[in-house]
Amino acid sequence: MIGAALLCSLACALPQEGLSPARFARKLSRLSPRPELRPDPTNAMADNERAARFGRALFFDPRLSRDESFSCATCHDPALAFTDGRSLAEGRVKLARNSPTLLNVGRRRWLFWDGRADSLWAQARHPLESPIEMDGDRLALARLIASDAGYRVQYEALFGPAPQLTDSARFPAHAKPMPEDKDDPRHLAWERMKDDDRALADAVLVNVSKSLAAYQRRLKTGESKFDEFASAYLAGDVSGGGHLSAEARRGLELFFSKGQCTLCHMGPELTDEEFHHLAVPPLNEELPIDQGRHLGAILVKRDSFNASGEHSDQREGEAADFVQLLISDADQFGEMRTPSLRNVADTAPYMHQGQFKTLEEVVHFYSTLEGAQRTGHHQELTLTPAEFTPKEEKDLVSFLRSLSAPLTDPSWARAPKPESEPLDAPR
Ligand code: HEC
Ligand code: HEC
Repeated sequence: MIGAALLCSLACALPQEGLSPARFARKLSRLSPRPELRPDPTNAMADNERAARFGRALFFDPRLSRDESFSCATCHDPALAFTDGRSLAEGRVKLARNSPTLLNVGRRRWLFWDGRADSLWAQARHPLESPIEMDGDRLALARLIASDAGYRVQYEALFGPAPQLTDSARFPAHAKPMPEDKDDPRHLAWERMKDDDRALADAVLVNVSKSLAAYQRRLKTGESKFDEFASAYLAGDVSGGGHLSAEARRGLELFFSKGQCTLCHMGPELTDEEFHHLAVPPLNEELPIDQGRHLGAILVKRDSFNASGEHSDQREGEAADFVQLLISDADQFGEMRTPSLRNVADTAPYMHQGQFKTLEEVVHFYSTLEGAQRTGHHQELTLTPAEFTPKEEKDLVSFLRSLSAPLTDPSWARAPKPESEPLDAPR
């Protein structure tokens, strides 16, 4: 076995199988360090500290839901890395998708598994008004803002006078557009409202959404072990400062080479922000077939709350171009957004239906593609079984665990003190 030993003494000196040190460094530098959070010119309040505090109060407030049964934090619990820890979210009924983490969510280009919202602020309206989630409505929301003294002060400091809703002939207690249930009294009430009055309610919904977005943009994580490794390695220390275990480092090498993971999990958030069909076996047979990006692309394009719509603070810009130039075609059927792998060890279960309970299960799936649902001609051909050995699967999981880091400012994970914490109180 002298030959094998000799081979190893050569191969094992390389930073990773098949990749030269220069290519390894190049690939590494695409993942770390992370750039600053991009501004969001479609939301004039995106980086406003007061709006973020107002948004935080709203995020934890169950009064935003129909019968005070849900706040955003019910399904995005700070103690569970802003997830609910379930395979499928539980709203007023069981939902068909997994609740994603909100850590680093300000960095996403598209929101939701199917990307049917193109900004954080456009996203917030969905759970707020969805009949199977919080089931709130924009009239009730506007009344809450106007009647809660603390909210009113905070709102008016940011957006100017809150609308007067005292005339109940013009402003019903509850109203929202419900195209999926046109007989609902709230839809009928909305239909009866005058355009100008609807615009007043829309403005409150949009301003609340922009504040919720300002809050969620603060949920940023800092440097992980992986970033510390990359920083040392790229500064010339081939040991990477010892920040990764030997296992995790082999896992990183597999991530780049045999696993081909960076075909999709590329860039500083370890996602291409695009959509792919992995054909992961469904959680159970009762769930409806998920159209994924095919429907998501149609919905975001026609959404009047998108970056090119009347509520956007920059109707002509990069984000507006992105959504206007979007196409939807049959090949996108079943495609899901590539999730970021930042903090992935903290956000089980995994995939859009929470099909996998552990990272071990996810990596084993990529290894074998066992149970993959071949759906005919829409099937993307990117994935072939990676055929990892059991040891390689463990190495990859170790690497994935090195991507976790705490919030840069953990005080944002805390619910504000009851009622109306002054905007300039210390967090
Ligand atoms: C009943 C549980 C539930 C509640 C309540 C809820 N969410 Fe979610 N949230 C989900 C689920 C499930 C998804 C994924 C849905 C999909 O992709 O279709 C999601 C997706 C998101 C996303 C997109 C994340 C990403 O990476 O694309 C954001 C942002 C978000 N929610 C914020 C909020 C805010 C803000 C509120 C309160 C206004 C809220 N959620 C209330 C369950 C919930
Ligand atoms: C063809 C693009 C592509 C490739 C290649 C790829 N992924 Fe993924 N990955 C995705 C998509 C898309 C999802 C979500 C799929 C779904 O929910 O149905 C995903 C989900 C995941 C998840 C679950 C994350 C979560 O929050 O639910 C992990 C972990 C993961 N991938 C790791 C890897 C690893 C490790 C490799 C290499 C062995 C890899 N991926 C290769 C596109 C890809």
